[in-house]
Formats: sequence, structure tokens, C-alpha cells
Amino acid sequence: MINETLPKIWYGGDYNPEQWHEQIWDEDIRMFKLAGIDVATLNVFSWSLNQPDEHTYDFTWLDETINRLYQNGIYTCLATSTGAHPPWMAKKYPDILRVDFYGRKRAFGGRHNSCPNSPTYRKYSQLMAEKLAERYKNHPAVLIWHVSNEYGGYCYCDQCAQSFRKWLRHRYCNLDQLNQAWNTRFWGHTFYDWDEIVPPNDLSEEREGQQTNFQGISLDYRRFMSDSLLECYKLEYNAIKSYSSNVPVTTNLMGTYQELDYFKWAKHLDVVSWDNYPAMNTPVSYTAMVHDLMRGLKSGQPFMLMEQTPSQQNWQPYNSLKRPGVMRLWSYQAIAHGADTILFFQLRRSIGACEKFHGAVIEHAGHEHTRVFRETSALGKELQTLSDRLLDARVNAKIAIVFDWENRWAVNLSSGPSVALDYVNEVHKYYDALYQLNIQTDMIGVDEDLSQYDIVIAPVLYMIKSGYAQKIKSFVKAGGTFVTTFFSGIVDENDLVTVGGYPGELRDVLGIWAEEIDALFPDQTNQMVMSREWGGLKGNYECGLLCDLIHSEGADVVAEYGSDFYQGMPVLTAHSYGEGKAWYVASSPDSEFLTGFLSNLCTEKGIKSVVNAPEHVEVSERSKEGQTYVFLLNHNAEAVIVDLGDRSMRDVLTGDIQFGQVPLVGRGVMILEKTT
Ligand code: GLA
Ligand code: ZN
Repeated sequence: MINETLPKIWYGGDYNPEQWHEQIWDEDIRMFKLAGIDVATLNVFSWSLNQPDEHTYDFTWLDETINRLYQNGIYTCLATSTGAHPPWMAKKYPDILRVDFYGRKRAFGGRHNSCPNSPTYRKYSQLMAEKLAERYKNHPAVLIWHVSNEYGGYCYCDQCAQSFRKWLRHRYCNLDQLNQAWNTRFWGHTFYDWDEIVPPNDLSEEREGQQTNFQGISLDYRRFMSDSLLECYKLEYNAIKSYSSNVPVTTNLMGTYQELDYFKWAKHLDVVSWDNYPAMNTPVSYTAMVHDLMRGLKSGQPFMLMEQTPSQQNWQPYNSLKRPGVMRLWSYQAIAHGADTILFFQLRRSIGACEKFHGAVIEHAGHEHTRVFRETSALGKELQTLSDRLLDARVNAKIAIVFDWENRWAVNLSSGPSVALDYVNEVHKYYDALYQLNIQTDMIGVDEDLSQYDIVIAPVLYMIKSGYAQKIKSFVKAGGTFVTTFFSGIVDENDLVTVGGYPGELRDVLGIWAEEIDALFPDQTNQMVMSREWGGLKGNYECGLLCDLIHSEGADVVAEYGSDFYQGMPVLTAHSYGEGKAWYVASSPDSEFLTGFLSNLCTEKGIKSVVNAPEHVEVSERSKEGQTYVFLLNHNAEAVIVDLGDRSMRDVLTGDIQFGQVPLVGRGVMILEKTT
């Protein structure tokens, strides 16, 4: 449990009473109670208020707020306020200001604006965390610490350059090794002095949109920046823990956010939390995938939904309202995938600055007679009914998809073979096919133990980290099914090509080698021709993006290219290796093929969906202590009938016993309890 003090799905979110006058505070509490809100995230952006100058700290408003809420049964998720530095600090200590990608020194403004290697930022953010921890360490209201906010963004200032050099010394020990790792004889880049190395930005190696001359340098800068920000987080984490060791600490992540290696970060979070802001046209399977990724960061441990909007955002180009029922539906989607909290940004809509048109539980109207308030309070009541029933329940998936941030950076930084190659898209294609089949999937990092899975899929595993090929081989040898795709096994951790034929270290387990890689224009396709029928797959399927020209070295050829000069060469191969099988998908297939392909692999392994649901009805399960909870989420606007078969299960929201043909309203949710 995240914190046993409140053994239920926490409900509430970001609350900024400091932006309001006193008269409204009691009204807030009245409405929170009406809505079943029991957790308020406080102090997210109050650094300047808490510390008006270098030597003065004043937490009066925070003391009063925490106490007032607590007296009314509302707990606190306590942020450290270091996500935006005070203006006076920027004026007095300009080292805290970042230098941007174009080499421009920033002036004060915005948020998430501090240089992560600024001595000023490190000193005062750590000190702030310490002051807060010392003050609130024993406060019974504080359920969890929320360090800073949405860490992100890079800096390219001189102190970052200095720290980068230090980081590089640590990684490579000497310049010979660095020169080798970066392949610096290319374009005359041999370095003789550490001080010759500068950050890769628009002034040096990179162009906006991921273009770089030197993948090695750019990749290391991403690792370094992710580490630098993590260092800032750790300073605060340790400061808090030295006073308040029993209260969990987190920081809110952002799903597939590009710039930080979240698998590395998650090791330092007591519980993962994240902010979920899909647009109305974000595929629901994408959101599902990100939830699974957030759950995967800590090997399946339940996570916190730290923020979502009850209605709309302000920062997307088109900020549609969540249609009636959608907020509830998407909240349960988070829970179905492992969330143990439902929190909003924000509880009361602000009246000034850029978030005044961001949705909130309490809107500008200021009363409870709004659609949004009715929907939030209805959900609040349901979560009270659910009590602790679902807390800590686990998802037991037999299939995993590998996701690796460093691999992603390397793929996206690659100059060639195609600008259209996007790692997350390719991963999502595979996830989506499994999602359409209602097969639960874990999203795992490269450190995860593979033996718990029957099938492991690693789309575009371009970078093979040291030891990973061996891990895959042992998995397949022991009977596992492994799937990888085109543009895999190409480079090592330094983005240096493994010579001797692609896919390098994966060549023997896959039983193929790739000789060339063709890039297709967006309007070009090739075909995957299956001359032998296999579990419903037969005939031609479309593929595109990249086509690896491969030769079998022992693998069975299951499909061949249908056109171009490589017509007849293998495009889908299966290689028996030990007790298991390794598949190579040499191009990017259409969704019909992928669904059929993954469905066949699941059938071979006896993996199937618990309920055969109509289209756009998501089915998933969480289990604990011999109980399994089946979630049925109707993403259609219309009602559907779901066939539960003869097994009767209890609907935990209504208490009804359900079996056979069950109606589910548009955007409806059902959570069914079955005893295993
Ligand atoms: C982020 C931030 C919040 C708020 C919301 C708005 O998630 O953490 O402070 O700005 O976005 O959607
Ligand atoms: Zn900097």
C-alpha cells in the first residue's frame, strides 16, 4: 500500500488555496467533502511564497492549509515547490538560469526553469526539501512527498558543460576510450583535452528535431542530462528521508516523455506517479500502453495517477471537453492498469495566467451545480465504496514488450535510414495489436527478468546493451517466444555498429542475417506474402517504412516480400532455438497482419483474453489474495452486450451478480469479482 493511513483509492489533486482569498477556503472544503475528495496536493509551485528572500522562510499558509484540510478529513500529498525558482533567486544568482538549445541564456520566467547543475539550485532546492521535511515529518496529514514537479528540459550552459566533462571522465576514464566510443576520427573530431568538449546543441552538433552529427555525443548528453536532473531529485529525496523515513517519496513523471530515462529514475522513487493528459484523439490503446509502462517502471508495482484533468486541458491545440462519462471511464482505465490513486489537476480553476482555462473540479462558476462536479462527485462516492478492495492488486501478464529509453534516443537520433522511423510508434503498433485482442501486456525495461513471460517482444531493438543478447538467448533456450523487428541488433551501447552482418549479436538466436535496409517513402508499400496458411493468416499483407533484406541461416521463412527487386526474400522468419522460438519481422506490417500474427503466437502459448468482448471494449484484470477483478471498459459512446458465459461474477460497484449476456452502457464500466 502506498500509505496505510488512507487505505482506499486516494481521490483529489493539485490544490492552490494560496492563489485565493480566505473566504473561499471553507467553501472549498465543503465542496471537497461533497465530492469525496480526501487528498490535496499542496505546495507545488510556492517556492517564492515560502522563501521571500535568501534567509527567510515562512510556511504559515502551509501550516494552516494542511491543518485545516486535515481537520476536515483531507490528507496532504506534500510537494517541495522546487519546480519553479523564485524571481529574486534568478536576479541574485543568474547561474540558476538555463541556457537553451540555441545557446541563449534565459531570463527569469516560466517554470521547470532551473539549470540542474547550478550550485545555487542544488543548494536551495535541497535546503527547501530539508526545511519542509523537518517541519512536517511527523504531521499525520502527510501521506506522501512529491518532489519538485515534472522534471524535464535540458540546459546547455557552461556549468553543465563542465559537469558533462566530469561525467564523461567517470564514464570513459580517459580520452582514448572516449574518442573510440564516439568514433571521433570521423569529421576530424579527435579530442586531446577534456575542455575541448562542448554540449551538443544548435551551436555545435545538433539541429532541432533530433538531427545530430555525432550520435555518440548526443546520446551521452541525454544520459548526462537525465542523470543531472535525477541528481537534483536525489538531493531532495535524501534530505526528506533523513527526517521522514517512513513516508513514501515520489515525483510526477510524464509517461513516454522523451528526455528522461524513467527506468533509471524509478529505482529512486518509492512509488511511481504520473500525469495522464491524453487528447480526445489519442488512441485509448496508447493511454493503456503508457499506464502499463508506468507500472513496468517498478516491475509491476501499483502506481499513482498524480494528475489528469476532470474536463479539458489548456495547452493542447484543441482542448476538447471530456465527454460525459469519459473522465470516469479513463479513471477506471488507469485503475485497471495498476493505478491506486485518482488525482486531478486541479481542484479549483485559477483566475489568472495560462491555466485559467484548464479544467478543474470546481470551475469558475464556483458551485457544485456543474456537469464536471456531478461527475467527479459520483466517482468520488464509488471510490469510497471500493474502499481498499483493489489496492495492491497486480496485473499478471504473460507477454511483455521491451521499452528502453537509451535505445529510443539512439533510434531517434539516427541519421538514416528514414525520418519516419519513430521508436514509440513501432512499440505502440505491437501493443495496439495485443490491446485489440484484449491480451494484457507488461511494458518492461531491459533489466527485467524475462523468465516470468511466455512471449517477449522487442520492437526495433536497435541498441543491444551489454549482456542483453545473452539474456534473450537464455529466455528462448528455456522455451520462450521472442519477437524482434527490422533495424534491430545494429549497435552497441555507444551507438557503434556491430560488424559482421545485422542483427549482430542476435544473429544466431534469430537464425538470419540482414544484408541491406531499404527505406520506403510514405506512399510506398511492399507486401508480406504468406503462401502457407497459418492460423487464419494467408495471402498478402502490406508492410512499409523499412524493409530489411534478410537471408535465412536456419530460420523458417514464414512470409516473403511480394514486390521490388527483393521480391521472394524472407520478411517473416521463425527460428527454433533450444526449447523456444525467435521471430524476425523484417518490415513494419499492417495492423491486420500484426493482430493475426500475435493472436497466433498467443494461441501457441495458450494465452487468451478472459472475456470475448465486442470491439472497443477493453478487458483487463488485476488480482490479489486469490481474488481477480475483471474490468470491462466500454470505450464506445453506444451501449454494447458483453457475453460473460456461464460463470457468474459479482459487480463490485453495484453488488449485482452478473453472467451470460450483460448490457454495458456507452462509456460504461464494470468491475467483476471472480474467485480464483
Ligand atoms: C502538468 C503540471 C501541472 C499543470 C498541468 C496542466 O501536468 O504538472 O502543474 O500545469 O500540467 O495540464
Ligand atoms: Zn546548465
